[in-house]
Amino acid sequence: KFPDEARVVRAAFMSSFFALLLGAIFGIIQTLHRTDVARIIPSTDYYTVLTAHGVFMVISFTIFFLVGLFTWALTRSLDRPLLNIKITWTWYGLMAAGMTLTGISILAGFVDSIDMSADVLYTFYAPLQAHPLFYAGLTVFIVGTWIAGADWFRTFLAWRREHPDERIPLQTFMVLTTMTMWYIASSAVAASVLLFLLPWSLGFIDQVNPTLTRTLFWFFGHPVVYFWLMPAYMLWYTVLPKIAGGRLFSDPLARVVFVLFVLLSTPVGIHHQYLDPGIAEGFKFISMTNTMFLLLPSLLTAFTVVASVEYGARKNGGTGLLGWLTNLPWRKPEFTGMMLAGLMFAAGGFSGMVNAGMNINYLIHNTLWVPGHFHLTVGTAVALTMMAGTYWIWPQISNKPIFSSQIGLFQVVLWFIGMALMSNAMHAQGLLGVPRRTAEPEYSGFDYPTMFGGFEELNIQIAIGGTLLFVSTVLFLGNLVLTMGNPTVSGLAEPLPSPVSGAEDAPQVLDNLRLWVGIALTLVVLAYALPIAAIINRGGLLGPGVGTYPVWAAPLFDALTNAATPLLGAITDASGALVE
Ligand code: HEM
Repeated sequence: KFPDEARVVRAAFMSSFFALLLGAIFGIIQTLHRTDVARIIPSTDYYTVLTAHGVFMVISFTIFFLVGLFTWALTRSLDRPLLNIKITWTWYGLMAAGMTLTGISILAGFVDSIDMSADVLYTFYAPLQAHPLFYAGLTVFIVGTWIAGADWFRTFLAWRREHPDERIPLQTFMVLTTMTMWYIASSAVAASVLLFLLPWSLGFIDQVNPTLTRTLFWFFGHPVVYFWLMPAYMLWYTVLPKIAGGRLFSDPLARVVFVLFVLLSTPVGIHHQYLDPGIAEGFKFISMTNTMFLLLPSLLTAFTVVASVEYGARKNGGTGLLGWLTNLPWRKPEFTGMMLAGLMFAAGGFSGMVNAGMNINYLIHNTLWVPGHFHLTVGTAVALTMMAGTYWIWPQISNKPIFSSQIGLFQVVLWFIGMALMSNAMHAQGLLGVPRRTAEPEYSGFDYPTMFGGFEELNIQIAIGGTLLFVSTVLFLGNLVLTMGNPTVSGLAEPLPSPVSGAEDAPQVLDNLRLWVGIALTLVVLAYALPIAAIINRGGLLGPGVGTYPVWAAPLFDALTNAATPLLGAITDASGALVE
């Protein structure tokens, strides 16, 4: 119906899948390397491989998919084309150019004769320093996403003028709330790159305050995980019920969930810094409390999505307490893939709770447990849902049926098995204290104390799991390439059914984005003003001795600190009493 938009969606998906291919190649190299199964690169190149894997997977693969999916969802749900397709191609072009520059700067790390290195990992905070091209590319990429958001907001406003009294369609609501969160979150990383890291890398300033750049990174680094997750949520809420033969159970609940993410996703970033010196324990405690609230939208999602799928199964004749599970389209890769992804997400939620607890975090901090955790969340809940979603959406935006559903089904199941092996063994090695981000964790003369299984046995599980994942990626991409050669068929576009409880049941206030932005910003100020002031005061705006907060602000910060101290004391006492 909208061929220009479909072209953009296809281009974004193809960029995403190209990144997935590169990411998977580096993924298998590092898996076989660190498990000592096959070392085809020198260990000194390990960080280059790891940076490439991280950046291509979680910045390029996920975000290009997101912009494609959101373009599809917005045009579909508003039933109107984007305002100006030239602007659309501009942001796509900026994103593609930015990622190419960043990619070149990373890959140059393999060529000794080129004096360029960006082995800074996908977290890229100081003290690791990259070539300026790395930061410049990322900046261009992020500016591209900002223009994409503006493109969608402008199109929505044009629709609003034509439909002043209608509720925001659910998929558009999801796009707008997610982008609101993205603007708030990415402002900090933009500040970190433009004010500190890029000038430092260019040699304009000699030093930075590492705690400050880390804190600004994690201000962005936690909400970004929801930025990856929201496309999966969109597919689970709006597409999965349809594939299951049913309808979404509750539109209002879906809106509540997206609003909760706008509010809660940012004031939690300090939970990534539990072991950072220079941030007071009280601030970490507040961050942990906020983090635990984030379980709520995920539990609501589990309930709503499972209820919608069950509704579909029962409509198709399913009965019994669990008997309805047999009345679901398990042969369809788009269905099975999303269901398996959701199952893994639940497991990832449990291991995430361990990460989030301030005390048990010390047990697993910076161990292989952490990659074990996020390969369940972003690496499966998100990645597998994106692949499964592609099996459903690609025919509609290209008019070509999927080459082979059987290969698709095999591929999604293979991903699940591979990830179950790899991630389980990563968690187990983490508990033994095996560090992450290490080329050769089998230090000579040192044995990991094994409580169950053996270190070597776990290595083999990781290597087999990683290999299955790589094969699964190749099957996914191969199936898609073959699909592109299929003859064109019309009539593949599928409508989405309206929810059981529709938008009219949702309180009007949910659509008041200004209100949610206001509350979200207030929470951000409450969570971050004092820690950032303290970090600058102690470590200097540009490192030790260079810049503290301005003199005029001192009384204000002191007053706030004085007011907060008894409050934090009371919280600590209360939690102590609870524990006793
Ligand atoms: C890290 C393997 C897919 C995101 C790792 C590590 C391994 C690995 C072994 C740990 C390296 C270390 O800490 O030393 C694989 C394999 C994959 C795969 C074999 C499948 C082909 C994915 C996917 C994503 C992802 C789909 C996300 C969409 C990451 C990230 C890191 C990582 C962000 C951390 C990088 C860092 O610590 O800087 N991967 N992975 N991976 N992986 Fe994957």
